[in-house]
Amino acid sequence: MISKKLQDAINKQINAEMWSANLYLSMSYFFAKEGFEGFANWMKRQYEEEMEHACKLADYLVVREGTALIDKLDVVPTGWGNPLEVFEHTFEHEKRVSQMINALVEVAVEEKDKATEDFLSWFVNEQVEEEATVRSLIKKLKIVGTTGGLYTLDSELKQRK
Ligand SMILES: [Fe+2]
Ligand SMILES: [Fe+2]
Repeated sequence: MISKKLQDAINKQINAEMWSANLYLSMSYFFAKEGFEGFANWMKRQYEEEMEHACKLADYLVVREGTALIDKLDVVPTGWGNPLEVFEHTFEHEKRVSQMINALVEVAVEEKDKATEDFLSWFVNEQVEEEATVRSLIKKLKIVGTTGGLYTLDSELKQRK
């Protein structure tokens, strides 16, 4: 059975993943409103991924005879200046999430819970991937810069399944 301290820390992360999901859903509809269908699609997938992260953590708590808490979420931002600003916000947010995951691993180590430490390594690797993906999108956005280039990148992101 998982310790209360570790369960509380995982529940906090579930809330953070669901907040991330809402943040990206908000970004998705911002893009949709601005006419960027591809960026909107990419962010919708990102929203789904964050919900998967939340469920992955909640499922794990149940397997470990813990209790998953689906708590209320703080409001998310709704307005940005341009696509680059949205992705820079995403990058800053993902870096913060990476720190949260690292802190969560620390709790597992303190609680001497090897299974949870092992389980969380998936999230550690996922964060490396997430940061790299967004970093490369920011680079592309900076390269294209103009409206024409943005349209091409927008179409490219429409392909995300
Ligand atoms: Fe996540
Ligand atoms: Fe993420």
